[in-house]
Amino acid sequence: MDIQGKTVLVTGANRGIGAALVRALLKNGVKKIYAGARNPSSLPDFGDDRVTPVQIDVTQPADINAAANKIGAIDILFNNAGIMTFANVLSASSAELAADMDVNYYGTIRVTQAFVPLIEKQGGGAVVNLVSIAGLAPPTVISGYSASKAALFSATQATRTALKSKNIAVFGVFPGPIDTDLAKNLPLDKASPEIAAENIIKGIIAGREDIYPDPTSDQLSGLWNSNPKGLEQFFANMG
Ligand SMILES: NC(=O)c1ccc[n+]([C@@H]2O[C@H](COP(=O)([O-])OP(=O)(O)OC[C@H]3O[C@@H](n4cnc5c(N)ncnc54)[C@H](OP(=O)(O)O)[C@@H]3O)[C@@H](O)[C@H]2O)c1
Repeated sequence: MDIQGKTVLVTGANRGIGAALVRALLKNGVKKIYAGARNPSSLPDFGDDRVTPVQIDVTQPADINAAANKIGAIDILFNNAGIMTFANVLSASSAELAADMDVNYYGTIRVTQAFVPLIEKQGGGAVVNLVSIAGLAPPTVISGYSASKAALFSATQATRTALKSKNIAVFGVFPGPIDTDLAKNLPLDKASPEIAAENIIKGIIAGREDIYPDPTSDQLSGLWNSNPKGLEQFFANMG
């Protein structure tokens, strides 16, 4: 789908992949970007008057509804906000497991429910969900996070089906390790958020429903598509 001339919302736009997405969207000719952040004063100066800060904590329905009322209409929603607890499902506390679910799964659904009517007003558009390669099979050390992303993967598929007749495309993005604060404890080779953002936009323009935006996820997507059990075993062997 076309990006040029579109009005978009990016959640979690103050750093990491979200901030890189804002910069890449500006380069790709969007008309307007609502840059969502829990604390708008944490947003960098993007140096472009097409960017409007908007306060959204995805765990707070009141924030989400206030933002939707203020914004009025968008073409593309980027559900990017996310957190990652560094723990496996057998050692994580209930609070840690719940926090990952609240932001990554329920948060994305809350924002989608509030903003889909604004996309419908435009006659169609897109929802882009930042899932993770870890949503397809669980790396042990982050398996609580993986469960929240597996739930999000399922919700992404369900959202796609639900919105098909409304001319709203739904993209799932499945990054591997990207060099942001979220992944700082993962001792792996990482792609830059700028590369990830550019490839996410290329994937949307090409109309690819499942986007693997970095070399690691691109490689692992081959394993996932040919042998899902193989991806489980690959992560299990990482320890
Ligand atoms: N980095 C990776 O290796 C990787 C791999 C696969 C998928 N992803 C996914 O990509 C997305 C972006 O991650 P990232 O790597 O850019 O992480 P990051 O640098 O840690 O940034 C996370 C962003 O999410 C925001 N956020 C967290 N909780 C929020 C909430 N309750 N409401 C609104 N915003 C909230 C943060 O805002 P604050 O500054 O206010 O905390 C920040 O803007 C996430 O969904 C993540 O799961 C990342």
